[in-house]
Amino acid sequence: MKQDKVIFFDTTLRDGEQCPGASMNLRQKLEVARQLEKLGVDVIEAGFPVISDGDFEAVSTIARTVKKCRVAGLARCVEKDIRAAAAAVAPAGDRARIHVFLATSPLHREFKLKKSKEEVIAMAVEGVKLAKSLVDDVEYSAEDASRTEHDFLAQVVEAVIDAGATTVNLPDTVGFTTPGEYAAMIGYMKKHVKNIDKCILSVHCHNDIGLAVANSLAAVGAGARQVEGTINGIGERAGNVAIEEVAMALTTRPEALGFAAGDVPHNLNTREIVKTSRVVARMSGLAVQRSKAIVGENAFAHSSGIHQHGILAKRETYEVIDPATVGWGETELPLTKHSGRAAVKARLEKLGHSLSAEELTQVFERFKKVGDSKKFVYDDDLASLVNDSLDTHNGVWKMVHIQFVAGDACQPTATVTLEKEGKKFTDCGIGNGPVNACFKAIDRITRTKGALVGFNVQASSCGQDAVGEVAVKVQFGDENEKPVSGKGAATDIIEASARAYLNAVNRSLTLARLNQDNA
Ligand code: KIV
Ligand code: ZN
Repeated sequence: MKQDKVIFFDTTLRDGEQCPGASMNLRQKLEVARQLEKLGVDVIEAGFPVISDGDFEAVSTIARTVKKCRVAGLARCVEKDIRAAAAAVAPAGDRARIHVFLATSPLHREFKLKKSKEEVIAMAVEGVKLAKSLVDDVEYSAEDASRTEHDFLAQVVEAVIDAGATTVNLPDTVGFTTPGEYAAMIGYMKKHVKNIDKCILSVHCHNDIGLAVANSLAAVGAGARQVEGTINGIGERAGNVAIEEVAMALTTRPEALGFAAGDVPHNLNTREIVKTSRVVARMSGLAVQRSKAIVGENAFAHSSGIHQHGILAKRETYEVIDPATVGWGETELPLTKHSGRAAVKARLEKLGHSLSAEELTQVFERFKKVGDSKKFVYDDDLASLVNDSLDTHNGVWKMVHIQFVAGDACQPTATVTLEKEGKKFTDCGIGNGPVNACFKAIDRITRTKGALVGFNVQASSCGQDAVGEVAVKVQFGDENEKPVSGKGAATDIIEASARAYLNAVNRSLTLARLNQDNA
């Protein structure tokens, strides 16, 4: 299949979401999907429909909402997975893709699948054929391809292409390969698989030894034309390849990667990169490292005098990318407490949040409160308020008031008032600090008992009065229970912490209810 540009397959909502602590609710996933569409990714892998009702709903809602990208649902090579994926992606019509996977490496064959080479080929072919009977666009992934014997891998690839796969992905599942090796694997397939021209070869790199970008680029240099990755590189363990890094390498150095100089060999609107990074960080609760390439706060900050002088004389002396081309510095005038509902609505729409009238009312109330305590409400502040208001308010318990006393000469105490089904409940907590005291008060009211296992705070914008965003991980029950994450935002970080904790309580109650319904 002739393909000149590199196709970007974004799996932030599937592999990225598998990252511990990254779980997103439906609204958050939709916001990420809408922003990915603005960024211009070619394919959005929206989830793994068979694993839960929530995943199924997310994939089908995204398939219904997104209008330009292809929407993929992941499935093992088993009938119930493939049928669930087909049903979930169906609303995308002719942009629907089923992505089936089955491991091929000796380790996986022997210890995980307990299947012979012949059985693996048969199962992969059957999976692809079933998927092909349900949608036109079928991708097959040979999990752990980079540790698979080349000759066997070539047999699998040839068989799945004959069965109808139009994209064949050869993942470096455990982030083990090196650029030379990975390029050689792609080269081998191109040389030895006789029907290889009927498919697009795809790569999917994990970053366990920090080689994900180098490996992906080496594969592109060898002829792969789809790159799978996530925004900010989030994902299992050390993460997936960061799409923004591969895209900017292709934009900046096309001639070094086998394309014509001056060519832009992909479809991304790079000016949306920074915004997309922020949406993903906010929605997933996973902060971006300051020095991360392209999207980290420091990526274009020059503190040494020599560099600053060079940049002023000629930008290219110390910068290989103009920061504006990835969306740095594209901010509008901040809102203030005098801004009306219509202005807030318009700004929210620009930021990619389309809210119902009721949701807008909730966010506007919080906006007014924040506007009273800080001079300017920046776009990032506003976006974090959306996240906080809608998440917390969608839960069982709502925050009404919070008050705390702390200092070096008193016992930290907090009084919290929450609302449930229109009734208000107030209680107090004493703790080893004001945050802990708030959590104790919330525990008493909601009759839960959580142990904090993760706590992260960051400012959403600049200045001392920035909105503080807190992400917590809380263990409810014994240590075998999976921790639940929660997020909260407020200009006061103690209030933001209490909101994050309450968000985790609400999520754990919802999960418990869902588990009961499914039992
Ligand atoms: O890393 C991997 O191999 C995967 C496959 C399911 C594509 O995520
Ligand atoms: Zn993966």
